[in-house]
Amino acid sequence: MTRIFSGIKPTGHLTLGNHLGAVRQWVDVDQHKSDALFCVVDLHALTVDHDPARVRRLSRQAATLLLAAGLDPARCTLFVQSHVDEHTRLSYLLECTASDGEMRRMIQYKEKSARERATGGSVRLSLLTYPVLMAADILAYSADEVPVGDDQAQHVELTRDLAVRFNQRYGHTFTVPKAVLPSVAARVMDLADPTSKMGKSHAETGGIVYLLDEPEVVRRKIMRAVTDSGSEVVYDRETRPGVTNLLEILAACIGGSPVELAEGYSSYGALKRDTAEAVLELLRPVRERHAELCADPGYVDAVLRTGAERARTLARPTVDAAYAAIGLMPPA
Ligand code: TYM
Repeated sequence: MTRIFSGIKPTGHLTLGNHLGAVRQWVDVDQHKSDALFCVVDLHALTVDHDPARVRRLSRQAATLLLAAGLDPARCTLFVQSHVDEHTRLSYLLECTASDGEMRRMIQYKEKSARERATGGSVRLSLLTYPVLMAADILAYSADEVPVGDDQAQHVELTRDLAVRFNQRYGHTFTVPKAVLPSVAARVMDLADPTSKMGKSHAETGGIVYLLDEPEVVRRKIMRAVTDSGSEVVYDRETRPGVTNLLEILAACIGGSPVELAEGYSSYGALKRDTAEAVLELLRPVRERHAELCADPGYVDAVLRTGAERARTLARPTVDAAYAAIGLMPPA
């Protein structure tokens, strides 16, 4: 059976981008067809300036929202990264496999470190090594597929390179995984600035739809989305990024192709209205279920406990095998 691994980092409230680019696929497809593991990757949230209480709160909120979105603990394994030591155990071995140059080439590192430096902050070393920890997340579980949005594709490529290199040097140890991107909405853009990604860790622009936004707030953000000059509704990322983003969101919500959907519209206003309603319809059950689950924190804890136990059992043999392969003496 195909093994799937994916994760979400609790650096901010989950967005429509996370939902359409990743979570929906996990809920609708992945947990039904494969042995799927989903992880709240809290260690990754420590790579940038962070407030400890907020990370703890957002980790719980992310896990609760993933269940609210439809992850079913009877069908998949949901857990928190820091509850399973194998991730950091393996990460060091992969640091000894990766090169400094390939880490510095990572686009997210370049962007985020530039942002940190521009605001006078210092760049944590873990921001540079973060993709190695991500590779460890994936390789520890011998995952075949990694369902992610477009922005994580480069990190999965690096994971493949590290797996191949490790296997060549030390003997076959890791499954070489591949990224699986959704056919639409693989990169949902900020509604206020459709040339940049809708990101949960970004400063609030008014163009980021959070899964827990009130319905009126969602409607307002979409109705105020920046559109392009001209008035024709056409799908073209280069010349019409705003309209194209709305068409992608609409297509992801109601199905169909964004190019074909465009033909049914003669004004931006109608497209925005329909997109807002489609998003509200998609998010309504998630919000309702989230409220129910918040009233039952014991349930969420139990799911995460069981998830971590299973995850540990799966990861341990692979990480032990990597320790042996790389030349470390086993304990007596
Ligand atoms: P993160 O937490 O930034 O995002 C979680 C998932 O949501 C996708 N995503 C988007 N998709 C479409 N449009 C957007 N605007 C958008 N924003 C985010 C991301 O591509 C991702 O699939 N490094 C990862 C977390 C991670 C991970 C892993 C993922 C750590 N270890 C192992 C997979 C496997 C991250 O920061 O995702």
